[in-house]
Amino acid sequence: MEANPFCLALLLLIFASAMTISNAKTQYHDFVIQATPVKRLCKTHNTITVNGMYPGPTLEVNNGDTLVINVVNRARYNATIHWHGVRQVRTGWADGPEFVTQCPIRPGGSYTYRFTIQGQEGTLWWHAHSSWLRATVYGALIIHPKEGDSYPFPKPKREIPLLLGEWWDANPIDVVRQATRTGAAPNISDAYTINGQPGDLYSCSSRDTIIVPVGSGETNLLRVVNSGLNQELFFSVANHKLTVVGADASYVKPFITTVLMLGPGQTTDVLITADQPPARYYIAARAYASAQGAPFDNTTTTAILEYKSAPCPAIGVLVKAVMPILPEFNDTATAAAFTKSFRSPRKVLVPIEIDENLFFTVGLGLNNCPTGSSSANCQGPNGTRFTASMNNESFVLPSTFSLLQAHHQGIPGVFTTDFPATPPVKFDYTGNVSRSLWQPVPGTKVYKLKYGAKVQLVLQGTSIFTAENHPIHLHGYDFYIIAEGFGNFDPEKDSEKFNLVDPPLRNTASVPVGGWSVIRFIADNPGVWLMHCHLDVHITWGLAMAFLVENGVGELETLEPPPEDLPLC
Ligand code: C2O
Repeated sequence: MEANPFCLALLLLIFASAMTISNAKTQYHDFVIQATPVKRLCKTHNTITVNGMYPGPTLEVNNGDTLVINVVNRARYNATIHWHGVRQVRTGWADGPEFVTQCPIRPGGSYTYRFTIQGQEGTLWWHAHSSWLRATVYGALIIHPKEGDSYPFPKPKREIPLLLGEWWDANPIDVVRQATRTGAAPNISDAYTINGQPGDLYSCSSRDTIIVPVGSGETNLLRVVNSGLNQELFFSVANHKLTVVGADASYVKPFITTVLMLGPGQTTDVLITADQPPARYYIAARAYASAQGAPFDNTTTTAILEYKSAPCPAIGVLVKAVMPILPEFNDTATAAAFTKSFRSPRKVLVPIEIDENLFFTVGLGLNNCPTGSSSANCQGPNGTRFTASMNNESFVLPSTFSLLQAHHQGIPGVFTTDFPATPPVKFDYTGNVSRSLWQPVPGTKVYKLKYGAKVQLVLQGTSIFTAENHPIHLHGYDFYIIAEGFGNFDPEKDSEKFNLVDPPLRNTASVPVGGWSVIRFIADNPGVWLMHCHLDVHITWGLAMAFLVENGVGELETLEPPPEDLPLC
């Protein structure tokens, strides 16, 4: 039969347009986790890194791309990598938290993470999710729009990732092990860092301070990540305004500010225009410390925004950079004003008819010294041991199977599904809490959600031992933050404040100190998903739980089968 030339042309046309739509690529990477000598604060440590880099390699992809990352563990610790904020739709096996979605990669072992970025644009990051390895094992994950698509703002001249980190002048694994032994709070960090460098205000550091060169008049995009372990941070650039355009890989309605506050885990994308006299300006970050009386690292990390046309520093003449004014360490008003400024760019579809109305308390606790323990193991306040919980449940990781494996293969005895939907006892959460309520119960409990369930979750901070801002991170999902406030959440009064029009979409919520946040999401990603405070010290103490989201109907609503090289416990 003769081919109809018209049909042939039409076919070609369809084929060609299909090609331009689906030009998603697959990127292959090798991550070797290994000890590498890293010198900071005058001392060299044998630091665990990826590919010998601290921070680790930056991944840059387009929305829609697939990543295949072969992780080889040449360190002497168990390791896993988590792709913080990547939704991992149906690919929970690649999410990374150890004993939740996989067993750790043992020293000498390897595991290949495979996943596709779907519908996310902006800045995310990756980090180890095993003990405190993420202190040094982390890097940026930048997601550009699909090829041919553009940003919802004028294209910046340059894009600069700024990873804020925390450095210990010690082995971070030893720091957490010591705390676990003594029951006391772990030592605070010795420095904050920007892209791995402490900056001019620390000893032996100024030679390596990060320089961000800019041209006069240019607008650049700063991709700021709080990759620190245990500290919320204020961030500012001297004499420059910042226009916030994105957070946690979702765009936001642009707003102007001079200071950012990021909890560990959170990212914020800002546009900055070099509209000041050519000179050197400090980019600086220091603690937002909301817990009263608790010790914290009160140092300041700096990098330098340097105009290319700035007068050349003559030999021996130090041209000082201008220092920004950062908020006071306890400036909760500034932190709250900042987090309340976030909006989605336009009206969004917030789940309205709620299937699961959940209320979780989040906070610290103190365990009495276990009988038979020596006082050396009970060096928390008044001879106790620190602990933390959600709804009075202090989360304990399993050790023989990951939660996801146990769920997928129906292995009994690994977890129970009775995580409470509301606190077992109602009390004045942010008031003077009776000592009898300070000791949570340890356990490995998950909360089951039907596929597609519309969830509202109130995260209520407690003042047990001390109130504190908690950056609560949910794996496998983005959620809308529809309200936040101080004190105890009041369903009558506070429901009126819900933003059901254009709330921001995030993966980590800063629950205000002595206050609450309300989030909503649709449980449309089957698997087992950890939710925890992103202050690592609090995960260590049990401030976590997991959602078990059941499969829906058909392949597209079902968790993929586990990869063949999934590590065993
Ligand atoms: Cu950024 Cu559970 O982690």
